[in-house]
Amino acid sequence: MAYETLLFEQRDGISFLTLNRPEKLNALNRQAIEELRDGFERVAADASARVVILTGAGEKAFAAGADIAELSALTPVEAEEVSRRGQDLFDRIENLGKPVIAAVHGYALGGGCELAMACTLRVASEDARLGLPEVKLGLIPGYGGTQRLPRLVGKGKALEMVLTGEPVTAEEALRIGLVHRVVPRRELMEAAEVWARKILANSPVAVRFALRALHQAGELPCSKGQMLEAALFGLACATEDMKEGTRAFLEKRAPKFSGR
Ligand code: COA
Repeated sequence: MAYETLLFEQRDGISFLTLNRPEKLNALNRQAIEELRDGFERVAADASARVVILTGAGEKAFAAGADIAELSALTPVEAEEVSRRGQDLFDRIENLGKPVIAAVHGYALGGGCELAMACTLRVASEDARLGLPEVKLGLIPGYGGTQRLPRLVGKGKALEMVLTGEPVTAEEALRIGLVHRVVPRRELMEAAEVWARKILANSPVAVRFALRALHQAGELPCSKGQMLEAALFGLACATEDMKEGTRAFLEKRAPKFSGR
């Protein structure tokens, strides 16, 4: 698929996906959603792609939301379908089995904020503004925002953000746990790459199992989640990576993981 709204690059195990509609502040129209879906399917199918860094082109925005021009013309039945398609993509991103790092700068509003929340880790630049302003348009969040935001920041803060529609600054986002780190704008991509390289140094199988177990936290009751954890822990002990990781520790050298 040739992309018009997405840049796709691969380097040293990292896939760089960049939303590329800067003249519309990377607003997520139907085409952008489908290209993003295709990009993530490519990453899923490629064993050499182990970490994703997702960002937005241009200086002003990660993504300023779903495309309001498109939304304004939808029938209710079409709108339900658009919401389900977007939710499906964001669930796919959350459950990719590979860490996805959102490098957030400028506006991350509506669907842009929801997209960042579906990612595994979020680093923001100091100029970032994150929020769910849908009520200002007579809408509510439709790409998982009403569910992911309270899980990240607590119901009280989520209610405040969704009902006022007001975005939070990067500093506030850090304080409430909506992003993990805040850095100066010029250091944003390097900060994301430092995380990516730290993850790349670890066992790919263990990273995948850890993601799977952690994603069930909040979905399963604690006892069932721990059963899954114990099963994956046992499975990890059967991998070459576990043999190599423990042997390397005892031999006081860096491990060389094969991903098997
Ligand atoms: N959907 C469609 N187009 C959008 C958009 C969106 N979510 N957000 C921005 N754009 C477009 C603008 O219409 C404008 O296009 P134009 O130059 O053809 O008129 C262009 O992107 C630049 O945006 P502009 O509003 O001129 O930039 P600004 O710096 O003055 O304001 C924002 C930036 C983010 C405050 C403002 O664009 C905004 O409020 N966007 C909508 C945010 C939103 O409600 N998102 C949730 C959608 S459900």
